[in-house]
Amino acid sequence: MTGEQTETETCFKEITYRKPLITDGRSIYNLVKKSPPLDLNSLYHYLIFCHYYNETSIVAEKDDSITGFISGFLKPGDGKTLFVWQVVVDESCRGKGTAKKMLDEIIARPCCAQVAYLETTVTPSNSASRSFFSSFARDYAAFLRESVLFPSSLFGKKSHEDEVLFTIGPLKRK
Ligand SMILES: CC(C)(COP(=O)(O)OP(=O)(O)OC[C@H]1O[C@@H](n2cnc3c(N)ncnc32)[C@H](O)[C@@H]1OP(=O)(O)O)[C@@H](O)C(=O)NCCC(=O)NCCS
Repeated sequence: MTGEQTETETCFKEITYRKPLITDGRSIYNLVKKSPPLDLNSLYHYLIFCHYYNETSIVAEKDDSITGFISGFLKPGDGKTLFVWQVVVDESCRGKGTAKKMLDEIIARPCCAQVAYLETTVTPSNSASRSFFSSFARDYAAFLRESVLFPSSLFGKKSHEDEVLFTIGPLKRK
């Protein structure tokens, strides 16, 4: 077995997945801060997700450090659609299925039992994000439709790409 394989297996074994707590807020903020091209929101934003949206959000933890995070919520008035806001995995743990595992865990929770569609927005230049959600759509044998939700003009003078809405579904549960 090569050293690289050993490291990969160790990473897999040591990662645990759970709902976020408000005490994770600062670590999540710091993880997003060092993970371009994600937009960094305020610490308050992450505390809100840890407190009010913890059922549809998740952290990955390794050696008492937060190494991954997904924020999501059920679309208001529509219990069948999970909106995924941010997905992030620490650079040291990427490429090992951590993001995929986090999203699978959220979808498998009782609060998502009726979820048949996933929505998210992707900026055109984020090829990792596009690949990640395309892979998710394949895993759940679902269609993926794209349309611009927030055109760049809405972001004013600050340079920002279009936010393209990905609608994935209906999901065929694994
Ligand atoms: C995008 C990101 C969350 C992926 O996390 P990860 O744990 O490395 O992803 P996984 O190992 O679970 O990969 C899941 C799928 O996405 C694909 N994928 C992930 N990163 C990719 C990349 N950089 N390029 C191409 N495909 C990628 C994988 O190939 C895999 O698909 P497969 O199972 O069909 O082979 C991570 O690179 C990240 O945090 N990036 C910075 C923040 C960001 O851009 N977030 C938006 C994310 S949606």
